Amino acid sequence: MVHRLGVLISGRGSNLQAIIDAVTDKRLAAEIAVVISNVAEAGGLARAASAGIESIVMPQHQWPDRDAFDGALAAALQRRRVDLVCLAGFMRLLGPAFLEAFPERVLNIHPSLLPAFPGLDAQQQAFDYGVKVTGATVHFVSAELDGGPIVMQAAVPVAADDTSDALSARILAAEHRLYPQAIKRVLDGQGRLDGRRFLFPI
Ligand code: GRF
Repeated sequence: MVHRLGVLISGRGSNLQAIIDAVTDKRLAAEIAVVISNVAEAGGLARAASAGIESIVMPQHQWPDRDAFDGALAAALQRRRVDLVCLAGFMRLLGPAFLEAFPERVLNIHPSLLPAFPGLDAQQQAFDYGVKVTGATVHFVSAELDGGPIVMQAAVPVAADDTSDALSARILAAEHRLYPQAIKRVLDGQGRLDGRRFLFPI
């Protein structure tokens, strides 16, 4: 079965590009049914267009409240028979009106080893804290910011002479390798959630 992905973005879309590339190279047995951005100027929209993928712009201020926006977003994805939603730099918290439409079917990528450094500027937070290892995490999305069960993580060492920018670039490269692998692992259907733990055969 070819799975149908919906990718939600707000910005440059480099993780979207990594997913597009994995689909094109057949590393992922899936097709991207739609890309949705809540920001009209998002650079990722051009990436979707170049790949011939339908994209929609849905700025949240066009809906009266969070529930209405979340409901409209879920409906747009359901109309396109999306079976896995991938957040890729989507800068908005999703509430129950969205998450209940896609139970255990929404993934996010975050640029730190969660639960360390949730929220904004995770790379800078880790750099400033002085950790020796940071990285990237793909997790299921829950109502708690960056708090859902972890699917996969990649570690990125911090070098003695690192700068925050150089570290961020290495984390981003790790994200691009990790996200398609984690999506594949979820789509394979062999994993299951046991409380917070995502278990899969090795
Ligand atoms: C990535 O660092 C991702 O981990 C975070 O937002 C950034 C999005 O970058 N959630 P891009 O739009 O995929 O290039």
